Amino acid sequence: MDKQQLLDQIAADIRNKNICPDLAKTAKNLVIGDGNLNAEIVFIGEAPGKNEDEQGIPFVGAAGKFLNEMLASINLARSDIYITNIVKYRPPNNRDPLPDEKRAFWPYLIKQLQIIQPKLVVTLGRHSMEYFLPNQKISQVHGEPCHITFGQDKLVVLPLFHPAAALYNGGLRQTLLDDFARLPAIVEKIKQEQA
Ligand code: URA
Repeated sequence: MDKQQLLDQIAADIRNKNICPDLAKTAKNLVIGDGNLNAEIVFIGEAPGKNEDEQGIPFVGAAGKFLNEMLASINLARSDIYITNIVKYRPPNNRDPLPDEKRAFWPYLIKQLQIIQPKLVVTLGRHSMEYFLPNQKISQVHGEPCHITFGQDKLVVLPLFHPAAALYNGGLRQTLLDDFARLPAIVEKIKQEQA
């Protein structure tokens, strides 16, 4: 099976195993992820919002527009990266995802990363950071790449603030832009370490 077929299988498994049935009932679409299956960078957000639920594509609303601008600032397009969320159905009224919901989707997120094999995983906001970097505070660790191991898998995780949080907060916005500007050098360094 190629990478697309393997990802399609993940979506089928989430449906067939009826993961988070309450969310599945209220959501219009399963938002599995979007972008380049050979990407060097995978971005992970929180959960789909209204626009994402309607279109079945992550980060297509205001936070997505800001993310696209930040990608452009480092000469990347959405087609260069892969993007997904920890929770793959929209929580009603955009409430925060519950711990059980994040836990239920976590194995599928890990499978996605095993298929794509990125050089760098960028978590956007605390909800996607917390399972990779437990007990860390985003305000203290943002912008610092962390090498982690889970079982057989080694990952480099870069925690960033969520673009929706930064959108209307000038200080956070500048911090996120500054962290973003360091992304190309971080990926280069990982490649050199792995060469
Ligand atoms: N915020 C997220 O965390 N994910 C999306 O897909 C959209 C907004």
